Amino acid sequence: MADPYAIVFEKISKTFKNAREPSVYETNLKIEKGSFVTILGASGCGKTTLLKMVNRLYEPSTGRVLINGEDVSKTSPTLLRRKMGYVIQQVGLFQHMTVEQNVATVPEVLGWDKQKINQRIDELLRLVKLSPEEFRKRYPGQLSGGQQQRVGIARAMAADPSILLMDEPFGAIDAINRSILQDEILRIQKKLHKTILFVTHDIMEALKLGDKVIIMNHGEIQQYDEPLAILQNPANPFVRSLVHSEDLLQRMAFIKARDVMNTGVNNLVAGDQEPAVGEEESLKDVLLLLLRTQADYVRVESKDKVTVGCISFQELKKI
Ligand SMILES: Nc1ncnc2c1ncn2[C@@H]1O[C@H](COP(=O)(O)OP(=O)(O)O)[C@@H](O)[C@H]1O
Ligand SMILES: [Mg+2]
Repeated sequence: MADPYAIVFEKISKTFKNAREPSVYETNLKIEKGSFVTILGASGCGKTTLLKMVNRLYEPSTGRVLINGEDVSKTSPTLLRRKMGYVIQQVGLFQHMTVEQNVATVPEVLGWDKQKINQRIDELLRLVKLSPEEFRKRYPGQLSGGQQQRVGIARAMAADPSILLMDEPFGAIDAINRSILQDEILRIQKKLHKTILFVTHDIMEALKLGDKVIIMNHGEIQQYDEPLAILQNPANPFVRSLVHSEDLLQRMAFIKARDVMNTGVNNLVAGDQEPAVGEEESLKDVLLLLLRTQADYVRVESKDKVTVGCISFQELKKI
């Protein structure tokens, strides 16, 4: 049977030179092929260190990482990185190169012919919703932060890697564009079935995007499970206090759907296929429903079953 795991961490740990304690303690994790896994934790807890051991930007102190069953230490870092897309917060676009040149970097290294590269650039820019005609010849400095991040995603996907590593990719983007980009990456992942390992310190982002969430604290994995399972059965007091923190679930339990729903006329074109909650139900129920159904939003219904508003993650984030 084919190996169902894209990434396996086997007794991985990392202690930096001269460090008093490990940045990542011994860790065993299996990431299923085609799954979207988020890594959630506070700054400095070891998220980036864990991620960078996958594409050998860091070498583990103990243990090994397997990609599709193969030990990464047996593959040259350069080859490995070409097979895996990598997107970071600072985007890392080459400033002196146009959008098309940026996207073409890896295909050129791989020696693709010109026509194939050209087609790929158009295809990728359309995938990330940038019109090729308008954007191909622009320089990164002529793009908004959100547009740069789209180019970063296009570039990371240029050679069609099966794995994407993303390190707080939307961290520097304003809330509105961030939510749009989150929806885009979800759409792309659903369409192309990439395996995505996505680092964030934002709880809502981790819960919204992840099929599964890895929760880290001080270099240790606290829980690795589906969002709903984490919310309903936190593995330990740390996870409980994180997901039930006052500014999240507890507050949500006391806020009614009608108090935060979006009543804009344009938002009421909702079809019947979206899940619905009653006006009096709590935001906690709304969140659980969003997670369980993977819907973009829920409809809010009055007692006589008329749609009076809707709630998406966007509204939940505002509370
Ligand atoms: N290259 C490095 N050299 C030494 N220590 C590092 C290095 N990178 C990270 N660390 C340390 O490892 C810990 C985890 O860092 P990091 O993985 O970047 O955390 P996060 O991404 O969760 O914010 C921190 O204490 C950090 O100072
Ligand atoms: Mg980091």
